Amino acid sequence: MQRILMVCLGNICRSPLAEGILREKTNQLSINIIIDSAGTCDNHVNQNPDSRTIANAKKHHIDISKLKARQFSVSDFDNFDLIFVMDSSNYADVIALARNENDKQKVELILNRVYPNSNMSVPDPYFGGEQGFENVFILLDNACNIIANSLIKS
Ligand code: 4NP
Repeated sequence: MQRILMVCLGNICRSPLAEGILREKTNQLSINIIIDSAGTCDNHVNQNPDSRTIANAKKHHIDISKLKARQFSVSDFDNFDLIFVMDSSNYADVIALARNENDKQKVELILNRVYPNSNMSVPDPYFGGEQGFENVFILLDNACNIIANSLIKS
């Protein structure tokens, strides 16, 4: 069974949404998978997702209200096969904790699944308005469609 971890900075906006979207899609496709999310910082540990993210997910019929933020740890390299990061700063922070080449190979910018080799970031919506959250949803929905389809074929 594949194990996929979504990572952002606070684990209250982008990565819990990515977790919820991918869980929804894999459930619909009856794919057995372990999905989790984490943040590179510890500022929001044990908090539920940001209320604006919960509202955005709900608008798309996805419930992420009960998720709880946690911080990324080195053991995640052992517990997951793929680690999708949202932006280049998350990428640098996670790679800095990698113990070897095998750990590094697991880490991927999630939008590279949509726009290969572009190294684009999912913009941080935290300090913006509602449109920023919808924009994040659209980006992550596209990426998770591609990820879910790749799991059918793998
Ligand atoms: P996230 O968004 O990394 O997508 O969860 C953020 C959440 C909190 C903060 C920044 C980004 N913050 O500065 O507290």
